[in-house]
Amino acid sequence: MKKLKTFLSCLLVVGLQVNAQSARPVYLDPSEPIEKRVEDALSRITLKEKVDMCHAQSKFSAKGVARLGIPEVWTDDGPHGIREEVFWDEWSGAKWTNDSCTAFPALTCLAATFNPDVALLYGKSVGEEARYRNKTVLLGPGVNIYRTPMNGRNFEYMGEDPYLSSRMVVPYIQGVQQNGVAACVKHFALNNQEYMRDHINVNISDRALYEIYLPAFKAAVQEGKAWSIMGSYNELRGQHCCHNDLLLNQILKTEWKFDGVVISDWGGVHDSDQAVQNGLDLEMGTSTDGLTNNGGVAYADYYLANPFLKGIELGKYTVDQLNSKVTRILRLIFRSTMSKDRPFGRFVSPEHSAAALKIAEEGIVLLKNNRQLLPVTVGKYKKIAVIGENATRSVTLGGGSSSLKVQYEVTPLEGLIAKYGKENIVYSRGYASERSSKKKAKQLIVPSDSLINAAVETAKNADVVVYFGGLNKNPNQDSEGSDRKSYELPYGQDKLITALLKANKNLVVMLVSGNAVAMPWVNEVPVILQTWYLGSEAGNAIAGVLSGEVNPSGKLPFSFPKKLDDNGAISFGKESFPGDSINEYYKEDILVGYRWFDTKKIAPLFAFGYGLSYTSFEYGKITTDKKSYNPDETIKVSFILKNTGMKDGAEAVQVYASQAHASVIRPAKELKAFKKVFLKTGESVTVELEIKVQDLAFFNEVTHAWSVEPGEFILRNAASSAEVKSNVSIKVL
Ligand code: BGC
Repeated sequence: MKKLKTFLSCLLVVGLQVNAQSARPVYLDPSEPIEKRVEDALSRITLKEKVDMCHAQSKFSAKGVARLGIPEVWTDDGPHGIREEVFWDEWSGAKWTNDSCTAFPALTCLAATFNPDVALLYGKSVGEEARYRNKTVLLGPGVNIYRTPMNGRNFEYMGEDPYLSSRMVVPYIQGVQQNGVAACVKHFALNNQEYMRDHINVNISDRALYEIYLPAFKAAVQEGKAWSIMGSYNELRGQHCCHNDLLLNQILKTEWKFDGVVISDWGGVHDSDQAVQNGLDLEMGTSTDGLTNNGGVAYADYYLANPFLKGIELGKYTVDQLNSKVTRILRLIFRSTMSKDRPFGRFVSPEHSAAALKIAEEGIVLLKNNRQLLPVTVGKYKKIAVIGENATRSVTLGGGSSSLKVQYEVTPLEGLIAKYGKENIVYSRGYASERSSKKKAKQLIVPSDSLINAAVETAKNADVVVYFGGLNKNPNQDSEGSDRKSYELPYGQDKLITALLKANKNLVVMLVSGNAVAMPWVNEVPVILQTWYLGSEAGNAIAGVLSGEVNPSGKLPFSFPKKLDDNGAISFGKESFPGDSINEYYKEDILVGYRWFDTKKIAPLFAFGYGLSYTSFEYGKITTDKKSYNPDETIKVSFILKNTGMKDGAEAVQVYASQAHASVIRPAKELKAFKKVFLKTGESVTVELEIKVQDLAFFNEVTHAWSVEPGEFILRNAASSAEVKSNVSIKVL
């Protein structure tokens, strides 16, 4: 009897649990399909609550529905680490003590690795940091195309080639989103300069738009399955991109079937009608002083706040328009914060330092190594002179929204001291930049001639001189909000480099920048490296490459012109770049970067895809599996690659395609495949790559569709866009 009672009471408990469970609303049940949860949640949220979800409630967050347990959406920059917490309603740091992050290398460096596996590692690591900090959306990565070397934000993007940036952005996004954190791909689209960025109106052909400026975004959406995207500040064809019918309604949501959230850039919304109708879902950053109307704009006055609500009440806007936005926002929340698969993240872990180091090591590009001056193995020289402000300056700080408060940053000088020993290193500053922060402006800046003289004296007495210069994150350098003023190096560095070279011919120039720079001394300086902004592990990565413990394998993700006028966009004058302050015409059209240099037969200073190694590689002849292909087939390309040098190393091999006789202008060549191949000394491998015939298409403006014309195409294997090894001709039927 007792047993029966216990059995019955057990049944009762189980029954109650089942009841309790079945009473749980669908939207709170993580085992239910997302679309069902969205539908259920939508039916429970009031009109006012829905409108509240469509705009910011603080600098970086938007409301959830507290009453229903639906969390707020917390965004944060991005893309190189997780930005410090700011005050609710101010840009300044909130002085938390637990928000110092790992700084990963800038995205130009990531692109230079030419290694999608490294992009996955990057995304995974930075995503873990975002998750640990409880962010819903990471504001990055950025994939605006490198149109000119003057854009202050090029360092945040992935270079000039739509194919390279597409291949690199997809794994970055996948890595981030594995953490239950949404990536927010930015800035959609054509935000290719900072000058007049909030209104410059871009006039561009459909072909250039589809072939050059959109592919990385399309890959991010369709292959990376990004959960959000950020509209850009500028205008396209007379409409701001944050509420641009063509970009958001027609291309993104209709053609590409994007089901995520369109988030405005901060302050990028200008009109309620357009914001409601033209594809925007979440409005952020419209100028506000907070929750009051104290002379500023309160959050309730945002274009998608009270004006939206009133518009619905008056019948001007529809509830369907509102529901479409809220559906997307809810979908993002269920994919991220309310997902049962959301892991816990981690912050400033040893794994993240290791990832930052690996990305940095793989991205450094060796541009020149005459007399085999490098590597400078440990013990080779007794006295190494380190010169230049960038050897000691923090370059994770500054540059605008991507500025980071870091747990640590190993500067180049610290890295070199750790590698070669304090007793073997002498340092001299060489030049001084202006400082952007008030506190630092008070620092004594010695007149430049005396800095040069001191540096020259230091250089004279050294065995080798390692110079760290380039740009920094000050305004008008590599920085958001302003473009560069000149292609030349700032702060009298050309003069300094020339003086150093006179003092010591063993000169290594390390360029810290996210942009190409003029190098009037290029023929005389024996060794040049492009070292980007490398993040927390900068000094260690540089020391590894300098000492030869790491064999450099980075390749340039953009061309370095000899002079500024050689750049396509700039060669057409002000109308083309930077515009007349209202309009800008992309006159170089599809001929961006190496497409311009190659087609116009202008030699760049350093070509896209170029980078040296301490070893050497021999390329075999390129072959294809067949001679002719149907339009729906895939071309299998192969060739032998051999490490013929004395060191193990990696080579980013590239395959470019061109059409022999086309009915429209086509670039001399376009990157269609690449692979980073690691080979031990003496080892060889057959490299195999695939190219879809469809990827040989151009965008046909008449039919508004991609089209592959039958006929001959040439495929070339190459070590850079300027160093073709062999070619093969195929026929498309
Ligand atoms: C930038 C975005 C950034 C946002 C939030 C804007 O000024 O253009 O890239 O994510 O601010 O900081």
